[in-house]
Amino acid sequence: MSKGALALLISGGTENWAPLRWRVRFLRVCPGRPVALIPVDAVDAASVRYAAVWKPKPGALSDFPNLEVIFNLGAGVDAVISDLTLPPVPLVRVAVGDLTGRMTEYVVMHVLMHHRRQGYYAESQRAKVWAPKLQWAASDLRVGIMGLGVLGRDCAEVLARIGFDVAGWSGTWKSIPGIKCFAGEGQLGDFLARTDVLVCLLPLTAQTRGILSRRTFAKLARDGKLGGPVIINAGRGGLQVEDDILSALDDGTLLAATLDVFATEPLPPDSPFWSHPRVTLSPHNAADTDPDAISLYVAEQIARHERGEPLQNVVDRAAGY
Ligand code: NAP
Ligand code: GLV
Repeated sequence: MSKGALALLISGGTENWAPLRWRVRFLRVCPGRPVALIPVDAVDAASVRYAAVWKPKPGALSDFPNLEVIFNLGAGVDAVISDLTLPPVPLVRVAVGDLTGRMTEYVVMHVLMHHRRQGYYAESQRAKVWAPKLQWAASDLRVGIMGLGVLGRDCAEVLARIGFDVAGWSGTWKSIPGIKCFAGEGQLGDFLARTDVLVCLLPLTAQTRGILSRRTFAKLARDGKLGGPVIINAGRGGLQVEDDILSALDDGTLLAATLDVFATEPLPPDSPFWSHPRVTLSPHNAADTDPDAISLYVAEQIARHERGEPLQNVVDRAAGY
């Protein structure tokens, strides 16, 4: 019996998401299985049993009547789940060490840049000024991570290992050695009140949209070593109220912001974020999805499914993540 075909529906427009790059990797890890890059390759729609997608066009997956599993090629599923015509088959997201490690690198790097005042030292170098400032210990800085899922937990553990005073906030309460855990709306205020650097690694859902607002920023600690609260958002742009970030930076409610994600991506050339002196930004690449690691992960999930074993990392569609 021939193997069910795998359809690739990939858009994104950046170097990492070049569709041909992904087709090569999938052909390598799916020997004997037809792999069709849609809409480039011809495929009998009825033969397609699996789809691997990144930001597919709404409705595009309805073309395959025998689809069994949809694999989202990233961790966040907001772009897929918003398609009301999405076939009611399991939706599997990425949760692999490669992507987790990349996110942890990004978060640790930016927490350290704020903690060690790298912006000041970079400016001092340009001005040829030798003026070291007093440096506090990592344990003096309170980092708070919103989202204690696959990514948030790893970041929390590595930051705690470095010595930071780390807390995390999630929907359901967790027990993580060395991390102060908070959960739910009821404990959000206490979590924010002890946080100097707020790292957001939440998924974008109806409940979390706009959570990085002035109301949230106003509850952050104001007695920390940095001289004001800092936010780092590597979740999704829809989590942040961008006008609130700008006005909070301008009136001192926030000291600084590191942003990897934006409401509109690519960030428009006239966005004030580009040139704001207290904003550090990156082009949504905190944790790139690596085609080698992720095609292998999808091939392994297909093998599990065909052996009759349960798929891993299936999205709870009602929860939205
Ligand atoms: P995950 O494992 O699903 O974890 C999500 C966490 O958020 C969980 O701890 C969950 O709580 C918590 N959460 C969800 N809704 C909440 C709410 N209303 N209130 C409080 N906590 C809530 O997800 P992940 O793999 O860590 O990924 C997180 C997000 O990172 C993705 O959804 C994606 O948007 C983003 N991301 C960005 C990049 C990038 O390059 N910038 C790369 C990858 C991922 P429970 O534990 O109680 O369920
Ligand atoms: C990237 O943003 C992802 O969700 O994996």
